[in-house]
Amino acid sequence: MKVKLDDIERDIWAVWYESPVIKMIDQRLLPEKVEIIEIRNPEELFAAIRNMAVRGAPSIGAAAAYGIAQAKELDYDLDKAAELIKSSRPTAFDLFYAVDYVMRHKDNAVEFAHKYVKSIVEKSRKIGENGEKLIESGQKILTHCNAGALASVDYGTALAPIRIAHNKGKKPFVWVDETRPRLQGAKLTAWELLQEGIPHNVIADNVAGFLMRRGEVDMVIVGADRIVANGDFANKIGTYEKAVLAKENKVKFYVAAPISTFDFSIKNGDKIPIELRGEDEVKKIGERFISPAGSPAYNPAFDVTPHRYVTGYITEYGVFQYSDLSKLKEFKEAES
Ligand code: MRU
Repeated sequence: MKVKLDDIERDIWAVWYESPVIKMIDQRLLPEKVEIIEIRNPEELFAAIRNMAVRGAPSIGAAAAYGIAQAKELDYDLDKAAELIKSSRPTAFDLFYAVDYVMRHKDNAVEFAHKYVKSIVEKSRKIGENGEKLIESGQKILTHCNAGALASVDYGTALAPIRIAHNKGKKPFVWVDETRPRLQGAKLTAWELLQEGIPHNVIADNVAGFLMRRGEVDMVIVGADRIVANGDFANKIGTYEKAVLAKENKVKFYVAAPISTFDFSIKNGDKIPIELRGEDEVKKIGERFISPAGSPAYNPAFDVTPHRYVTGYITEYGVFQYSDLSKLKEFKEAES
């Protein structure tokens, strides 16, 4: 992705490895500041994933893959490092898939971590190509959270088809859900779209129904943190209600994700572990309380959308219906 760093425009990934240091854009500081942070050991990586300096399922997976490579280069106990890294966040499946993948090839951990991350970038590009075909000229697309280059090392998952449609002159317009409580839409998706010159409006989280009823949304595209065998999927809290609204208003609803996000070991969405985060994310904006400090808050980070709301799954292997997902399982097995 193109970013201005020290006044120079550079094309960088959200996460990369300069042996033995993992580097990443600190996503907590955007859109005010583009700053690169350096991760020097598994403990620092655990903190960076937990506190969301790096976030978004495929980017978390990339950071974790490099985490094993780094642990190997620094002579850490690899099993302990893998366990620590995996305990950083519970929902995004890419984290577990990436760690297990590099651990299976631990004798050549650096080589396989690079291979893994390059493949994520390539998969994101293909998701863009496959999804772009679904977008017609001038369509208005609603997205939730950030499933852009920041979340997926480069290109994005949900944003990749939109980027390519824009580059082909299809003039897509994006409704960007602000995505409380951490505001990944307002902060990160809006920032990415602005960098690329893609027309968009940021909207409060409760605007989508209003727009859909008025015929102002042609399609919803979201990313995913974990898609299970029957097609149910976990994504940022608020996704489920957008899916229900889309069905009610006959708006197409697509999920974009690489196969590293698919967890075929779980039969349905009820079994997906859902991360609960701290109360202050809800009660504060920045350093300022917007609720009484004494009020308790409840903060699930993800919800589960049943497969019946999904028009199609946009993957690097094409666009699938939920009834065809078992084909992807074969592709995934062949890749591992
Ligand atoms: O808590 P986050 O910001 O890591 O959650 C990320 C999401 O839920 C994204 O919306 C996403 O679709 C998955 S990453 C492409």
